[in-house]
Amino acid sequence: MSNNPVKIMETVLRDGHQSLAATRMRTSDMIEMLEKLDDVGYFSLEAWGGATFDSTLRFLNEDPWERLRTIRKHVTKTPIQMLLRGQNILGYNHYADDVVTEFVKRAVDNGVGVVRIFDALNDVRNLEVSMRVAKETGAHVQGAFVYTISPFHTIDTFVKVAKDLVSMGADSICIKDMAGLLAPYVAYDLVKALKAAVNVPIDIHSHYTSGMAGMTYLKAIEAGVDIIDCALSPFAMGSSQPATEALVAALENTDRDTGIAKEKLFPIADHFRTVKKNVAETFKLNTAIDIDTKVLSFQIPGGMLSNFLNQLKEQGMADKYPEMLEEMPKVRADLGYPPLVTPTSQITGSMAAFNVMFGRYKVVPREVKDLARGKYGRTPAPLNPEVADLILQGEPLITHRPADDIEPQMEKLTKELAEKGYPNASVEDILSYALFPDVALKFFEANRK
Ligand code: CO
Repeated sequence: MSNNPVKIMETVLRDGHQSLAATRMRTSDMIEMLEKLDDVGYFSLEAWGGATFDSTLRFLNEDPWERLRTIRKHVTKTPIQMLLRGQNILGYNHYADDVVTEFVKRAVDNGVGVVRIFDALNDVRNLEVSMRVAKETGAHVQGAFVYTISPFHTIDTFVKVAKDLVSMGADSICIKDMAGLLAPYVAYDLVKALKAAVNVPIDIHSHYTSGMAGMTYLKAIEAGVDIIDCALSPFAMGSSQPATEALVAALENTDRDTGIAKEKLFPIADHFRTVKKNVAETFKLNTAIDIDTKVLSFQIPGGMLSNFLNQLKEQGMADKYPEMLEEMPKVRADLGYPPLVTPTSQITGSMAAFNVMFGRYKVVPREVKDLARGKYGRTPAPLNPEVADLILQGEPLITHRPADDIEPQMEKLTKELAEKGYPNASVEDILSYALFPDVALKFFEANRK
């Protein structure tokens, strides 16, 4: 056994099926394997947050809170990890501080042990409340920054964010490479720099989208990374994480040996292979695994490219696709190089599409105006001043923490829900309603009467 083992965060119950099976895995697909997963010896088991909350309510007629409690019942040794979008919680806009506070408390109460928190713009002001509350609950708080490539994103900028996160109480730092853009030798330098700058464990989270993630992990390991995010093979590769079994085997008998017996993993993987097949059949999903090398030149996540193409096709403008690919990086530069992650990827993408369809900045969607005026937080770099004038047209700028403008919401939501026929709604149900009102009401209609 190595005295410096690499720890593994297993994503099969969250990012694995979110990336490869449209987040459609049901709780009943998981239950049988939970105790076995708990016995593997993972650092943590990611099983909640991200898109799973929306998906359980919307597509699976399941209560996400109930899923969490069920998993907790079977997983007693390994911390359950969740992914939280800071002030966005799991939704797409900023919520009031009282909603964020209550959500984080209830998540930990119901079983979450590791809370990974990030902001799409790496604006740490958007993480203040959720990190503080998560700290108070006693959970392990992992501060994440999103990795992206631009003239404004150097190793030094990422190190600065990491230092801020640690000073805000982060127990570990995660490099979140959602698009699979982090190249192996860059990862080496980045991990080295982080290890020198902060005194907490470093976790690397990458996606196999471009085909580099396995190499990237190995160089990160050589640079001393502490935790790697992997998915069991049926839900690995493609737009998901590198495979757990492969990483465990690759490190065997080295000074970073994980200490995990890979034989324990095979029967669990077999189970999820069947699950993947069933889920794909039930929901008619294409779960074929593919490498998308376009991401290497355009730095645009693969899913976004196919969305663009569909949008243009709907407008009968499919021939504009090459123009669109050129427009996207220009818009991103104009908007101050936002990382391309939810929701900034959609915002940047729709602006690029509008520019191609109607002329540059002739029609500007509301969300783009909001991004430009600071409603989502600070953009990494200042906007292109000429474009800023075109977009803003004199709209007021927001230079403070955006959520300072949001009045408390919990009381109002509780009242609203009572008026809709649920006077005794649990706090968990009120939070579901806060995040996805229409979807939650439909779920309550079917399950709470
Ligand atoms: Co991910």
